[in-house]
Formats: sequence, C-alpha cells, structure tokens
Amino acid sequence: MDAHAVPSRLAERMSRLGTETAFEAAAAARELEASGRDIIHLEIGEPDFATPANVREAAKAALDAGATHYAPFLGIPELRAAIAEDATARKGFPVDPGRVVVTVGGKGVMVHAILALVGDGEEAIVPDPGFPIYDSLGRFVAGVPVPIPIRQEHDFRLDVDELASLITPRTRLLVINSPANPTGGVLTRSDLERIAELALANDLMVLSDEIYGRILYGEGEHRSIASLPGMAERTVVLDGFSKTYAMTGWRVGYGIVPAPLVEPFGRLLINTVSCVPTFAQFGAVEALQGPQDAVDAMVAEFRVRRDLVVDGLNEIPGIRCHRPSGAFYVFPDVSGTGLTGAEFAARLLAETGVCVLAGTAFGTVGRDHVRISYANSRENLAEALRRIAAFAAAAGR
Ligand SMILES: Cc1ncc(COP(=O)(O)O)c(C=O)c1O
Repeated sequence: MDAHAVPSRLAERMSRLGTETAFEAAAAARELEASGRDIIHLEIGEPDFATPANVREAAKAALDAGATHYAPFLGIPELRAAIAEDATARKGFPVDPGRVVVTVGGKGVMVHAILALVGDGEEAIVPDPGFPIYDSLGRFVAGVPVPIPIRQEHDFRLDVDELASLITPRTRLLVINSPANPTGGVLTRSDLERIAELALANDLMVLSDEIYGRILYGEGEHRSIASLPGMAERTVVLDGFSKTYAMTGWRVGYGIVPAPLVEPFGRLLINTVSCVPTFAQFGAVEALQGPQDAVDAMVAEFRVRRDLVVDGLNEIPGIRCHRPSGAFYVFPDVSGTGLTGAEFAARLLAETGVCVLAGTAFGTVGRDHVRISYANSRENLAEALRRIAAFAAAAGR
C-alpha cells in the first residue's frame, strides 16, 4: 500500500448523511456559465440584495474596535438581548434573553435540535417537500424521519388530520416550517393551534423553522407556534439573519429554546464551533436595532416578482402554479408538459440555460414539481419565463 494513501473507510453514519442539492445545482450551472453559456439562476436560496449598509458599517466598526476574539459561546449579551426584544415584539410571546442561543446560521439550530432531541430509532416528522437537511440529519443521528406530505391542493399547508395519523409512541420531534421552503406555503393560525394540541397531547417537541417569518405577503402577521399556551416549553424556534437582512454569508442565526435546552445547546456549541464570529454578531445587533426600511423594500420587491412569476407561469400550458403567501419560492406542478420535475429541470438547464431545482430535491412528494426562486431581477425573471414558455411548448408536442 502507498504509504501516503489516505484511508478512505468512512464511518458507517456517513452513508446516512444526505446533502442540499441546491448547492450542487448552482455549481453545475456555474460550470456551464464558465464554458460561455448564458445562464439564468433561479436555483438560488438567498436574497439577491446586498446586506444593508448600516449593518456592514457596524461590523466594520466592531472589527476596528477589537471584536476579533472569541465571543461567549451562547452569543454576545447585546445580541441575545436584541433578539429577545425583537422576538417578543414579532413572534407573539415574551422571550427572555437567557433562552436565546446564537448559532452559525439558522442551520446551527437545526443541527443542535436534531442532535439533542432525536435518539436512536426515534421518529421525527418532517415536511415533504421540505428543507432536505431535516431528513438528512434525522437519519445521520440514527433517527427515523417520517415525511408528512405537503400538497398544492392543500395550499402547501400540512393536513393536520394526516399529521395526527403519523404520530406513534416513538414520535419525538415535529418539524414545521412556515413560510416554507420550497413551496412558500404558510400555516394558518388554526393550523398552528391544531398542531399545538397534537404536540401537547402526544408530548412532542416542535422545531419551528421561522427563517422566512418576515418574508410574508398575506394580511396576517407572522405568529410563532411558541406563542400558543404551553408551547414555549416544547418549541425550539429557529430564526436568523440570512434571509431577512440578506446576510447569508455572515452565518448568524439563533434559537429560542425551552430553559432546559439552553445548557445542552451551549455544550453542543462548545463541542463544535465554540461561538459565532464576534464582529458578525455586532452587525446583527445593528440589523435588529437599526432602520428596517431595507427589509420592507426587499419584501415589497419580492411581492411584485412573485406576481410576475406566478402569473407568467400560469399562462403556460402544462404548468400550474399556486400563489404562495411567503418566502421567495414557487413550486409549480409541471406534469402537464409530460415531464417529471427532474426531467423538466435537467432539460430546461441544458436546452435553455434556466436553472431551477427538481421537486425531488426536497423529498418524494414533489415529483411533478420544480422549485423556482424569484430572488433575481425582474428582467431576468421575464426572460426566464419566455424561455420556459418556449421550452414547455416544445416539450408538450
Ligand atoms: C427552511 C430553511 N431553514 C433554514 C435555512 C438555513 O438558513 P441559514 O443560511 O441561516 O443557515 C434555510 C436556508 O436555505 C432554509 O431554507
């Protein structure tokens, strides 16, 4: 054997770890772009806006003031206090700074919650289609992810009766995500109340992924399931700065957790990343405490684009698109073109240079769908719609 060979035998658990195909699709599209193709990127899960200038300035000032050392592992006190104040105002329940845990992106909360709460053989109910990492991490920790189907016919909200039928004595965790990736679906107040009843009756923990909670187009305000009676004690709220403030590269997220989970989450942080970059946390304080007009402007622009895309897609024979009330994605059914979502996405990229994701990147239920992100300019979206219409016409023939 070559003395320099790297041992390639991976731990068995690695075979259970999935991935997020959005990153891979983006890489494939960029490769085509490098070869000279004109690509329109609609696979992207991040706002196409710059982080607001006041937030960037606050982080730069923090760097110059010496915020270059380790931070307290649960987050700097200024940020935990700012998050508690903001969440108390926006999420409908009183949040104590002592229950706020600052993590590396919202994903940090996901990792901690699943590691801390799902044991060997225990079941975690996860949305399908849904963010793929819930399922992937659930398997990685030797748990059993149980998909709850999310359908267009039901406005991309989970069906609470169906949810009830999936709960077993082994169910430990229920993951909800509203507004949702990849569908844009938003749970109603009554959905949340009925889900809370099930969680209380069956002694379930809930991971409530609210990362798109500020990107809402409906009349109603966002409310967290944690605001319902008895739920703050059994809910891990996941939120962060990536989407609301166009800060995906900063990697700052947070959990609002029941008191008994603060110490275990802290221990997980100490064992993994130690803390979130200190100057980035000072930027996040400014994001919450500074003017909010950049967020309002971004959401207003997303609403215009949503309507452009939904109306444009629904004019194309073979495509049916629901008008979602949140996030910046649509999840149209393309089966009327005679193609599955995966076939549609692969051929659309190869033949027209428009990159979208197959619905199966998010589970098995969205086989007939693709996910389109409208975090791109109106001009690019209009051009993409022209190409999709021509493609669908040819595919349907
Ligand atoms: C539903 C959902 N939750 C969590 C995340 C992760 O967010 P972050 O970039 O803050 O880790 C994403 C990112 O795409 C998401 O779509």
